[in-house]
Amino acid sequence: MTTTINGTRIAQRIRSQVAEEVATAARSGRIPGLATILVGDDPASAVYVAAKRRAIKEAGMRDFHRFLPQHATQDDVAAVVDELAADPQVSGILLQLPLPPQLDADALIDRIPVTKDVDGLTTASAGLLARGERGLRPCTPSGVIELLDAEKVPLKGARVAVVGWGELVGKPLTHLLLRRGATVTVAHEFTTDLAAVTRLADIVVVATGVRGLIGPEHVRPGAVVIDVGIHRTPSGLSGDVRSAELDGIADRITPVPGGVGPMTIAMLMVNTLRAAQWGAEREAVVA
Ligand SMILES: NC(=O)c1ccc[n+]([C@@H]2O[C@H](COP(=O)([O-])OP(=O)(O)OC[C@H]3O[C@@H](n4cnc5c(N)ncnc54)[C@H](O)[C@@H]3O)[C@@H](O)[C@H]2O)c1
Repeated sequence: MTTTINGTRIAQRIRSQVAEEVATAARSGRIPGLATILVGDDPASAVYVAAKRRAIKEAGMRDFHRFLPQHATQDDVAAVVDELAADPQVSGILLQLPLPPQLDADALIDRIPVTKDVDGLTTASAGLLARGERGLRPCTPSGVIELLDAEKVPLKGARVAVVGWGELVGKPLTHLLLRRGATVTVAHEFTTDLAAVTRLADIVVVATGVRGLIGPEHVRPGAVVIDVGIHRTPSGLSGDVRSAELDGIADRITPVPGGVGPMTIAMLMVNTLRAAQWGAEREAVVA
């Protein structure tokens, strides 16, 4: 029997813990706050930002939101990032991607100070992750690690295949897994025999953006399969894994929706809290 991992339940537990910590911080007058920046009219981005803002308010944190029009210039967005970076009330800054094509996303992301980089996507945060130093880690890969921990899946010594090495998921996840003592193999679009790589793994994490890429031919019996992909189809959301075909083969598998997706938002809450704590420590040093 294959067990479906309930990411919604695990994420809810994390969000409740964050809300408790926020309530404690609020009693001493320190309320963490997240600033979301939405540029333009992408409907999916608007939905994602609305969900993040709801979660922030539900956790008892401050919601600072900025909207800029589709035709905003690099200077317009940079000015907003800089203003939020200088505001001591703002613990974390999230620039929702993708941005309209006239904007240089990397340059704008790199204006976010590391202590406020709740998405963990700045060059500085990527460096801190690679070096194993204190920093905020990208939400989706840290959500994958939290899911595996909640399920008590051992990472030390485990053979893990990470399929896809994008900046958002696969690459940072590889570092997180290595730090936890896993033996990690990274596969990608130029891997010649994907099944030969993934069939050796105890844990297969798939983050490619290729719908239904992974099926029974890729998975060793008893493996744990984590599906990071999200695809909108006329019949609802689906992932990078043909999960129905893995029934009876995988030991455990994450569903789409209800697997990694809710963990991403939960880890954003965790990162906002950590950012607030980090910011307060820095202020104490300066004072
Ligand atoms: N669940 C969530 O909250 C969440 C968050 C972020 C991203 N995602 C999803 O994760 C997926 C990956 O996101 P990303 O931004 O890292 O993607 P990306 O486009 O940056 O990287 C995709 C990677 O997949 C690899 N790839 C492409 N085709 C392949 C193939 N046929 N075989 C093996 N590897 C292949 C590429 O080499 C590349 O390394 C997307 O589906 C995205 O929607 C989900």
